[in-house]
Amino acid sequence: MTDTDAYIRALEVFNPLMEPTVCAAIQALGLPSGSRGLDAGCGIGLQTLLLAEAVGPAGHVTGLDISPEFLTYAEGIVAEAGLSDLVSFQEGDVRKLPFEDSTFDWVWSSCCVGYAAALEPLSSVRELARVVRPGGSVAILVWSSERLLPGYPLLEARLNGTAPGIAPFVAGKSPELHFSRALGWFRSLGLEEPAARTFVGDAHAPLTDEVRDALLALFEMRWPGVESELSPEDRAAYGRLCLPESPDFILDHPDYYAFFTCSMFSGRVA
Ligand SMILES: C[S@@+](CC[C@H](N)C(=O)[O-])C[C@H]1O[C@@H](n2cnc3c(N)ncnc32)[C@H](O)[C@@H]1O
Repeated sequence: MTDTDAYIRALEVFNPLMEPTVCAAIQALGLPSGSRGLDAGCGIGLQTLLLAEAVGPAGHVTGLDISPEFLTYAEGIVAEAGLSDLVSFQEGDVRKLPFEDSTFDWVWSSCCVGYAAALEPLSSVRELARVVRPGGSVAILVWSSERLLPGYPLLEARLNGTAPGIAPFVAGKSPELHFSRALGWFRSLGLEEPAARTFVGDAHAPLTDEVRDALLALFEMRWPGVESELSPEDRAAYGRLCLPESPDFILDHPDYYAFFTCSMFSGRVA
């Protein structure tokens, strides 16, 4: 399996856990029916589809991503949903969007602008705002926290204190660049009504196979290669609790419970 195939699979497997939370965030935005928007860094188009459903048959959503492989896959997903007339996809870079000023009524970017380590947040949010008409909205959604190891807060804190654990943030970077400072980016760019809202998702035993697979994909996404940074004791505890081949794999605990948050930062173009 190539890296791209693995990433596509991870996004798909993870989606059942993520989708209700994303739907709640989209609903809270109140996108006008019939409006035209951009999903910047759309991945395989799973959220592009939700955005298209939110604006209805008179609206239109453009999904943009830097990866042509993801876009090909996204086109298939949208065609399968019968929404190809309402959605189009375009290859491009969020740092230099291939659109005129004020092209869209709104722009949405989930776990891309403001999140991906390689994207300088202020200039990328400015670029999103450039393509939105005055009065339109700019929203970024980020994965902001989680509790996945019930009963093991110290182990989880130490996992989250590793380099993979704080990713996409990087130790030593300016605090201003952390996504939790996004209100400051919106303010400094002159976006009106800057707002931050938090959306919570959860899962508890008995887990469906779908949610169990999604949580397993999440463990792999949150703590890839974490073992090398752990003490021998923590490495043993991680192996015992977080790896599916272990008899004590925590997702098999009869009282398993987890929650996570996504944070949405939004503002209006002046
Ligand atoms: C974590 S995925 C999120 C995908 C989707 N928005 C979601 O939440 O399911 C990040 C996406 O951003 C895209 N991306 C990263 N850098 C980009 C750039 N400079 N321009 C456009 N897309 C970019 C990646 O190809 C990937 O599809």
